[in-house]
Amino acid sequence: MKVCCIGAGYVGGPTCAVMALKCPDIVITLVDKSSERIAQWNSDKLPIYEPGLDEVVKKCRNVNLFFSTDIETAIKEADLIFISVNTPTKTCGNGKGRAADLKYVESAARMIAEIAQSNKIVVEKSTVPVRAAESIMHILRANQKPGIHYDILSNPEFLAEGTAINDLLNADRVLIGGEETPEGHQAVEKLSWIYEHWIPKQNILTTNTWSSELSKLAANAFLAQRISSINSLSAVCEATGADVSEVARAVGLDSRIGSKFLQASVGFGGSCFQKDILNLIYICENLNLPEVAAYWQQVIDMNEYQKRRFSQKIIESLFNTVSDKRIAILGFAFKKNTGDTRETAAITVCQTLLEEGAALDIYDPKVEPEQIIDDLTHPSVTESPEKVKKAVQIHSDPYSAVRATHALVICTEWDEFVDLDFKRIYQSMMKPAYIFDGRKILDHERLQQIGFHVQTIGKKYQRTGLLRSWGIVPQL
Ligand code: NAI
Repeated sequence: MKVCCIGAGYVGGPTCAVMALKCPDIVITLVDKSSERIAQWNSDKLPIYEPGLDEVVKKCRNVNLFFSTDIETAIKEADLIFISVNTPTKTCGNGKGRAADLKYVESAARMIAEIAQSNKIVVEKSTVPVRAAESIMHILRANQKPGIHYDILSNPEFLAEGTAINDLLNADRVLIGGEETPEGHQAVEKLSWIYEHWIPKQNILTTNTWSSELSKLAANAFLAQRISSINSLSAVCEATGADVSEVARAVGLDSRIGSKFLQASVGFGGSCFQKDILNLIYICENLNLPEVAAYWQQVIDMNEYQKRRFSQKIIESLFNTVSDKRIAILGFAFKKNTGDTRETAAITVCQTLLEEGAALDIYDPKVEPEQIIDDLTHPSVTESPEKVKKAVQIHSDPYSAVRATHALVICTEWDEFVDLDFKRIYQSMMKPAYIFDGRKILDHERLQQIGFHVQTIGKKYQRTGLLRSWGIVPQL
């Protein structure tokens, strides 16, 4: 069997690499319209950072895994084609700011329709609105050449960045949705056969196409909802003296609730949660289900509130002004073990501090400096990119980032931050030295013993008399 995957991104890359590793009898060609991205996949420095990915790619590349810009040949030769292109939120027109923009999916479908000379199974791997397969089918069948048959399947991807290889190797489930016809069942069987190379058959779930499409949106909505739920309680904890970690532990030990995904933080980020919930909200509005739309909107509103709340806490703690203060930002990626900064909470934190006149010293072990500058000078973040460039310095090591700063802010939960030499950091910082732990990963008691003023999420540490005497912090 020959497989083609259109879209060599965070999903297409790791998915095809693992598929190639586990299916030596299948030839997989990953294509992308970006020649730069394909060149990186063919080089020693892959375009994305993902633990374990380098090893898998090195094993399979040019054996049964190929990266190419020759989309035409790959489509022509393939029996099965994954569409794994980006589906961002629309930035203009109907549904702006909410609906998924399907222009890349549509262009992939049109390419297939134009190029295909034999039967194809077309698989939606991208996250799409429910009933998107209908649109793909419409495009394919409207341009169908005589004698060519298309089957459309939905096969959403559940991997999480940072653990993608493990998630793919040990998937909780693989979901395949198809048409309820004999041809549809046959197509499902063929895709299932690929996964059965390494996934136990009982973990391969088959449903109708629409259930499969909706399940992906539902899974992301549920995951994000848990984060917003615990984050909402973190605000209650800070106002009452409860500790959100203790609450999360007590709640999570209930087997009906479970302990995963109950970590309070500065807020969720990443390319998917917000985009997919907005997509779900848009669908609900269009289906005239305003109560359902409002319910899911609250998950996003709570996340925005949490990011703003944390940023405000930093400013208030620093005597209500950060103007001309240097603040170190440790971590810029939206989570650890990835270099992806899409929708990262760090952007909101940096944006707020920059607007208040702070100078920022930023360090992240995997995000490229150009990416950080691009994110912070984006028109949606600032009107004065030149001012931002002057106020931001990117560092290649954490100790140089914190030197002579007034405060250190943890935005990403990188493991290496836990093991930093905080005595050395304390000595090199301005006094009083503040730490704002937006990920709850540090040993706060030890930091306080060293002399730091510590603030975190969902737990209030004794505020200093100084702050109270300035009248900045209202007393409980
Ligand atoms: P990405 O932006 O990293 O990669 C998409 C790639 O598709 C880009 O390299 C782009 O150049 C390419 N592309 C777009 N149109 C093309 C065309 N017509 N022909 C050839 N190449 C084309 O996106 P990512 O993160 O891989 O996401 C892909 C899909 O998977 C999205 O729908 C996303 O919602 C979904 N998803 C993403 C997850 C993640 O963790 N990033 C997890 C699960 C699903």
